[in-house]
Amino acid sequence: MDVHDEEIEESSDNEVVNVSGEYSVTPWQVDGVVDYNKIVQDFGTRLITPEIIEKLKIISGNIHPLLSRGFFFSHRDFDTILDAYRNGDNFYLYTGRGPSGHVHMGHLMPWFFTKYLQDTFKSRLLFQITDDEKFLYSQHLSLQEVENYAYDNILDVIAMGFDPKLTRIIIDTKNIHALYPLYLEISKRLTFSTARAVFGFKPSSNIGMIGFPAIQAAPCFLPSLIEQKPTRVLIPAAIDQDPYWRITRDVAEKMGYYKPAQIHSKFVPSLEMNGKMSSSKPTSAIFTTDNPETIENKISGAYTGGQPSVGLQRILGGNPDACPVFWYLSHFFDDGKDSFERSLKCRTGNLLCGECKSDLTTQTKLFISKFTRRRDQARNKIGSFLYEDNPFD
Ligand code: TRP
Repeated sequence: MDVHDEEIEESSDNEVVNVSGEYSVTPWQVDGVVDYNKIVQDFGTRLITPEIIEKLKIISGNIHPLLSRGFFFSHRDFDTILDAYRNGDNFYLYTGRGPSGHVHMGHLMPWFFTKYLQDTFKSRLLFQITDDEKFLYSQHLSLQEVENYAYDNILDVIAMGFDPKLTRIIIDTKNIHALYPLYLEISKRLTFSTARAVFGFKPSSNIGMIGFPAIQAAPCFLPSLIEQKPTRVLIPAAIDQDPYWRITRDVAEKMGYYKPAQIHSKFVPSLEMNGKMSSSKPTSAIFTTDNPETIENKISGAYTGGQPSVGLQRILGGNPDACPVFWYLSHFFDDGKDSFERSLKCRTGNLLCGECKSDLTTQTKLFISKFTRRRDQARNKIGSFLYEDNPFD
């Protein structure tokens, strides 16, 4: 269901951003060419500054490439989290996944970063699986299908190597009892009018959708219940999830909790370079369940920043900035130096797209084959990660 095909008129601090402009970013859909500086302005978040990176470096000793390369680019209160940490106040991490299909490489990016944060800060992590959300929003998925994807996607989460002692996965339909009291407290404080302004609900939206934002907000406060004192939470997620945190931040202090902090990522480009990678367009993404032949075919069919012919490429050079093949190589596989050299060779016409595609294919096949092994091993570990079997303490 597209809840955004009508312009929202209501004026409030929490408006759907730019539904009629050149781009639109909502939790369900990203359209147009995204201007990240404009998003920061429109959403009222802040850019990650060199000072913040310096602050993190003092604590962590090393900066994750996803941060130094600007993939995580925006935040709310990340600096406050770091200051509090240095004063002895630890925080929980919270992130999640809507199980509407298999997991693709784009989904892994914020998870890599979350693991880096967990390893650095030894933080507990709540990982929410919103099977309820995907059922309510899907036109075709049955509850059973979404639940099957939930267990399938959990294998990917575990394969990331999160610390089982510090990580709990909450499956909404299974663990709703842990969230329900918070859901009630949150939803009582949110009006339909606010929800409609933020998420663009319409009279025809089903009522489950309208209540759902309070379910996604609930894990922001669960750590305070677990720790029995107000506890800070940091959410690493793509910027399209920000509307959820805006409404959560509105109610947090009224409920006696800290406003949840966020660190926001950009979107992962589609292999076809038309918007972000999407589970609903299988050729636009490499899934962790793809076999080697599929990986080869997808990468060989990918869009690039190259010229239409080898001759022109040699004369004019390519454009790595508009090339998903370069993007994947630089974000997943090349280190900073390799990546710089690759971009230079490309721009000067000394590298052909075929070579980059072949490098990406080799690396991706290797990565996915290792990941598949970890995914298979994850089957035996599910019990120790599930919140229901084993809540913290
Ligand atoms: N709504 C998210 C999705 O569709 C899933 C999700 C739930 C999430 N809680 C989260 C994502 C917290 C990031 C952070 O994928």
